[in-house]
Amino acid sequence: MKILVTGGAGFIGSHLVEDLLATGHQVVVVDNFNDYYNPQLKEENILQFMKRDNFKVYRTDILNQIALNRIFKREKIDKVIHLAAMAGVRNSVQRPNLYVDVDIKGTINLLDLANKYNIKQFVFASSSSVYGTRSEVPFREDMKLDSQASPYATAKKSAELFCRNYHNLYDLNISILRFFTVYGPRQRPNMAISKFTRLIDQGQPIPMFGDGSSKRDYTYITDIIKGIRLVLINNPEFEIFNLGSSSQIKLLDLINLISSNLGKKAKLKELPEQEGDVPVTYADITKAKNKLNYRPQVDIEVGIRKFTDWYQSAKSRLGERLGS
Ligand SMILES: NC(=O)c1ccc[n+]([C@@H]2O[C@H](COP(=O)([O-])OP(=O)(O)OC[C@H]3O[C@@H](n4cnc5c(N)ncnc54)[C@H](O)[C@@H]3O)[C@@H](O)[C@H]2O)c1
Repeated sequence: MKILVTGGAGFIGSHLVEDLLATGHQVVVVDNFNDYYNPQLKEENILQFMKRDNFKVYRTDILNQIALNRIFKREKIDKVIHLAAMAGVRNSVQRPNLYVDVDIKGTINLLDLANKYNIKQFVFASSSSVYGTRSEVPFREDMKLDSQASPYATAKKSAELFCRNYHNLYDLNISILRFFTVYGPRQRPNMAISKFTRLIDQGQPIPMFGDGSSKRDYTYITDIIKGIRLVLINNPEFEIFNLGSSSQIKLLDLINLISSNLGKKAKLKELPEQEGDVPVTYADITKAKNKLNYRPQVDIEVGIRKFTDWYQSAKSRLGERLGS
């Protein structure tokens, strides 16, 4: 099977590519290596695959329809896993138009080509942020969603609607996966766990937005990759699945967990809540359990230990790039 992974040089993408190559697939990556965080980290992420015969990378923007069309024409792709996006809630508040371009229009470009070239399955990476600010937990796939808290969340929700639209119009098989905060080796340096680990290690204060009582459902990267693998096997006509761990941890407890793994004390700098942030995320994963046999296995204590172990080993190799 030849699989196109957009955003394959990023955090989740590079883990997925590793898994797909290991299971004998041919992988084509499209990534523009933008500088939202240090592009050298993305180069590092894919370095291990560069010599593989069954791996190819195109340094292309998903907004470049002509270049994308050429890739689809040449590569004879079977399936598309669309991960390329501008991620990050807070940045989207500053740059909403960029999120409309990349996360909505970029997705439509790929849906168009998936239709034109009769792709067998289109998997779209959505986000728990589409659930917005709500007190009703855990979040279920069939909840009414009309109160997103950031342009990022609104863009992801809009892209989901386009996915449904293309399924209805053209019978494309589409799976939408709503990831709940993903962490693990190679995590984007601007995400909380990665940032907190660095700051605690360097003895610097952690900017803590709010009083530390906000709660998140964190999902370890290998559990997300298993979820994607299961949806590839299952290939439903059209489904939306939450992929989370279905457990929550308070921000302050998360900081203490990282700090105890590093054996260093965290210095906190309390700041007001950030615009676009939601107080709670919590996945109901009953549907993924029942239909895909999805069973997340890495709990937060084990996952944070794996992450801090990776951080200690990557620190000497990657140096300052880790935090840029
Ligand atoms: N990490 C999480 O916690 C999380 C949670 C929910 C959803 N997601 C979604 O999962 C996907 C992957 O996230 P990630 O954390 O690996 O982020 P990431 O930024 O590490 O990966 C995204 C990749 O897409 C590429 N990209 C961005 N714009 C592009 C464009 N215009 N053309 C081509 N490539 C482009 C980037 O260079 C990057 O390598 C995203 O769609 C994100 O919204 C992530």
